[in-house]
This record gives sequence, structure tokens and C-alpha cells, in this order.
Amino acid sequence: MHISAFFIINSLLSIGAFASQDVICRGLNTQDDGCIRYTRGFDVTGVVTEVDLTFPQVRDECDCIQECLNRPGTCANYVWKFSTSDAVQSGHRTCTLYSNFNLPSQVVLEFDLNSTNNMNINADEIIAAGNNPQMGALVPQAFKDVNLNTTADPDAVSGPVWVLANGQVQC
Ligand SMILES: *[C@@H]1O[C@H](CO)[C@@H](O)[C@H](O)[C@H]1NC(C)=O
Ligand SMILES: *[C@@H]1O[C@H](CO)[C@@H](O)[C@H](O)[C@H]1NC(C)=O
Repeated sequence: MHISAFFIINSLLSIGAFASQDVICRGLNTQDDGCIRYTRGFDVTGVVTEVDLTFPQVRDECDCIQECLNRPGTCANYVWKFSTSDAVQSGHRTCTLYSNFNLPSQVVLEFDLNSTNNMNINADEIIAAGNNPQMGALVPQAFKDVNLNTTADPDAVSGPVWVLANGQVQC
């Protein structure tokens, strides 16, 4: 009995019926002592308030999330992936922080980058990356081949860092 129950539960888990995510980066000062909200292999980030960090300042995904935690007033999400061919050649993924997210595929948003109401949007980077307007798209995949378009990178990580009104952080 125990054995068959085990196999049934195991099968349900493997088809995702009770899917749950492992805690990553245990020890981070967050509500779950780490993060349980993230995606692997895809990049959920947007374009606003881009901050680019590289090895050796950031050595792994946990350093990357910590950098977002260090900027609670401007960082709402991060991506740890190979962002350039140079990164692939160096063997070190990069850490990029943002205040907004990827938009869904049928939404396009143009920012008034000259408005004096803007704060901490890093307009120069939005312009340099050709990200105004921000085009909606399916959440982009992360790759690890030198052209960043062929070999999927399942070890890339991206996700939210939400600073809640009660002072707790969820990620
Ligand atoms: C914003 O300012 C830049 C640089 O001063 C200028 O080239 C551009 O035309 C302005 N854009 C708008 C929409 O006013
Ligand atoms: C990947 O990018 C390279 C260089 O731009 C290009 O030659 C190649 O056709 C691309 N491959 C795919 C699958 O898009």
C-alpha cells in the first residue's frame, strides 16, 4: 500500500499536478529565507531602470538577487543569464536588474523619456538598447550558444523581487 501510494504521488508530481518550486538562494533576507518565485530558462524582465552587473561582482544567481535586494527602491526583478556573446565566451552569466517587466505580446508602451516626472528610469540605457517603445513579446528564452539563439540555457534564472508594504520581501 505504501509503495503504490508513493508511486501514485510520484507520478502526479512528475506530470506537474502538485508542482512546486525549490527554494533557491537559502539565507537571503526574504520572507521565505530564499526565493520560491522565479523562472528558469526564460527572461521575464522589462526595460526600465536597467542596471548591468558582471562577474566577479556577481558570481551566481544568488549574488544577483542580493543586488536586487540591495536596491529596494528601484529593483523589482532580475535576470541571471548570458546576455552577450562576450559573456558566453567568458563563461560567466551576467546580472541585470530592472523596475518593470516583460510586456505581454499585444501590448506596446512608449515612454516619455524627456518628462521631468521620470525618476530613476535610466533613460540612456533604454535609448541605447532601442527599447522605446517597449514591445510586448512572449517571455524570451535564454540561450547559451555564442549567438544566443540556438542552445537553450535551462540554468538561467529570472524573477520578481517584491518589497511588500509590511516590509517583507517576496521572491
Ligand atoms: C527629448 O530630448 C532629446 C534630447 O534633448 C531630443 O532629441 C528629443 O527630440 C526629445 N524628444 C521629445 C519627444 O521631445
Ligand atoms: C543565430 O544567429 C546567427 C548570427 O546572427 C545566425 O547566422 C543564425 O542563422 C541564427 N540562428 C538561428 C537559429 O536563428
